[in-house]
Amino acid sequence: MNTIYPVVWSNNKVLLIDQTYLPSQYTLVEISRYEDMAKAIKTMIVRGAPAIGVAAAYGMYLGAKETNTKDREIFLKKLEEVAETLRQTRPTAVNLFWAISRMLKTAYETLGTVEEIKTILLETAQKIQAEDLQTCQDIGQNSLEILPKNPDKLSILTHCNAGALATAGYGTALGVIRSVWTAGRLKRVYADETRPRLQGAKLTAWECVQEQIPVTVISDNMAAHCMQKGLIDMVVVGADRIAENGDTANKIGTYGVAVIAKMHNIPFYVAAPLSTVDFSLENGELIPIEERDPSELSTIGNTIIYPDGVDYYNPAFDVTPAHLITGIITEQKTVKPEELIHLNPS
Ligand code: MRU
Repeated sequence: MNTIYPVVWSNNKVLLIDQTYLPSQYTLVEISRYEDMAKAIKTMIVRGAPAIGVAAAYGMYLGAKETNTKDREIFLKKLEEVAETLRQTRPTAVNLFWAISRMLKTAYETLGTVEEIKTILLETAQKIQAEDLQTCQDIGQNSLEILPKNPDKLSILTHCNAGALATAGYGTALGVIRSVWTAGRLKRVYADETRPRLQGAKLTAWECVQEQIPVTVISDNMAAHCMQKGLIDMVVVGADRIAENGDTANKIGTYGVAVIAKMHNIPFYVAAPLSTVDFSLENGELIPIEERDPSELSTIGNTIIYPDGVDYYNPAFDVTPAHLITGIITEQKTVKPEELIHLNPS
C-alpha cells in the first residue's frame, strides 16, 4: 500500500518532499508563497508531470491568497501574473499548463467575492490532487487487463520515475507496477538508472524498496542486453506530454528503450492520465523539449567528469513515435495510440 505523497496541504501551507535529496535524506520543504512554489518546480524539488500539475494548482491558490484586494478585476489580473510565473518553470510536462488553466477558468467562472473565489480555488487544487490519485489507481487497475499471459510472473522494465513521487500518489507507470505486484503477477522491476538526474536509481528504486517490491537498478546502456538475455517481459513508462496521434514525450532515453523493445518484440506501454494528453498538438514534433544546464551531465557529485573544451547537449525529454507504442494505459481504458483521439473530452 503506497503512503508516499509528494505534495501535502497542511496548516495553510504546502509540504513538498524534497526529491533532490532522496534517497539519502527524506526532507520536507514548507511552501507558503507562490514564488517559492515556482522555484520548487524549476529546481525539481517537486517533479514528474502530474505532481508538477498538483503543485502548480496549489501555487495558484497561494498566489490568490497573497492578494489583499477585494476588487475582482485587480484580483484576476494578479492571478494571471501568478499563472505566468508558474508557466515559466518547465516547458514540457503539459499537466503544469493544464492545472494552471483549470485554476484560472475556475476563478473566472466563479461569481462572488474575491474571498469566495479564493475558497473555491483551494477546493479546486484539492480536487485536482484527489482526482490524480484516483486516476493513477484506475490506470493501475486497467493495466491488469493487458498483461501478457506468459510468464505468470512478469519482469517489467521502467525508465525514469513515474511513481507516487511523480504524481499525487501511487504513480502512473509505477502505479501499474504496484497493481501488478498486488495482483501477484510481478517477478521484478528493472529500473533504468536514468542519466543524468538518476530518477530511476534514486526515486523509482527508493519507492520500490519502501514497499519491498523486488527491484534491480541497471545503467541505461544495459537495457538492450537485458532484453537480449530474455530478462524483460514488458516495458511500462510514464509520460510528460502525449500528442493527439500518440507520440509521447517522456524522460530522455525513453525513445531508445522503445526502439530496442520493438527490436526484441517486447510490449512497450505508456501509462498516463488524460491530463497528460495535449489534444491541441497534432504530433510529437510540436512538443517543446526542455534543455537543462550542462552541469547535470558534466558533474557527478562535486567532480567534473568531462575535459574542458567539450560541447554539451542536455535535452531532458525525448519523443517516442506512436508506432513504437503497444498501448497507452489511461484511467478510462487502454488504447492503441491511434485510438487516443477518441478519448478527447472536448
Ligand atoms: O524531469 P522530471 O524528473 O520532472 O521528469 C519527469 C518524469 O518523472 C518522467 O519523465 C515520468 O516518466 C513522467 S511523469 C509521471
